[in-house]
Amino acid sequence: MAEPVAPLTLANVGWAPSNGDFDWDEFDSDAYFDHNYGTLRHDDETIIDIVTDFFHDAASHRSERAIDVGAGANLYPALTMLPFAAEVVLYERAFSNREWLTSELKNHHDSWWQFWDRIATGPAERREYAAIKSPFDLLHRRATVVKGNIFSLRPGQFDIGTMFFVAESITTRNNEFERATQLFVNSLRPRAPFAAAFMRDSSGYRVGSRTFPACSVDERDVWLALSPVAQGVKIQTVESDDLRDGYCGMIVATGRKRA
Ligand SMILES: C[S@@+](CC[C@H](N)C(=O)[O-])C[C@H]1O[C@@H](n2cnc3c(N)ncnc32)[C@H](O)[C@@H]1O
Repeated sequence: MAEPVAPLTLANVGWAPSNGDFDWDEFDSDAYFDHNYGTLRHDDETIIDIVTDFFHDAASHRSERAIDVGAGANLYPALTMLPFAAEVVLYERAFSNREWLTSELKNHHDSWWQFWDRIATGPAERREYAAIKSPFDLLHRRATVVKGNIFSLRPGQFDIGTMFFVAESITTRNNEFERATQLFVNSLRPRAPFAAAFMRDSSGYRVGSRTFPACSVDERDVWLALSPVAQGVKIQTVESDDLRDGYCGMIVATGRKRA
């Protein structure tokens, strides 16, 4: 009997879609916000605790410029840097997300208060954060929405940085995941602190009616991507299983750009 022949598909001829193969301007920001940030979830609560405790110890009050790379429809990475930066750049490729961010800074959804309350008071009060009484007015004054591509980030520009669910969620290609992670860290000045979050073992995701790619990564992949460019790296796994199908938890990495 003849061997079954595998159908000729894009996957088995080895074509892996890259970041440039997706129409990011069609990213449905409202659908993404509603699904992910309409209410504070347990996994985000854990990420907030890891990141704010780290910045509390590592960030300098003299920092001038912060960057959140691939900000999307998420304000909470920027909020974790708020006490430590005179300017927060929300760096984003998608037109739809830049429009959403611009409008959200003027008139934010109420759910962001749940995120801020966790940031400021957490399991115990965090002084730098709790001292800020009008976080959304302050963020509006300090934030700038900037059109940008992670693959064009210039080195040595920022004093503190975040990148949440970007490097592994913009491509299926491992080399692009690595390059994006390293360009993010390299955009910081030497010894600047950063926090990055990753979906673990993701197979891609839907936003509204569109599908977007993912590169399946685990703790070792994150370590391999970060170790050439970062020091003091700590990688933690965050339990999460009810956001959607096709992933296996989340990963948070904190550290500093190599001196
Ligand atoms: C999964 S979303 C993450 C959004 C947000 N950071 C969060 O925490 O939910 C991926 C984001 O990366 C953005 N993006 C895609 N390609 C990019 C690129 N080349 N440079 C910068 N941002 C990009 C997308 O538009 C989207 O906002």
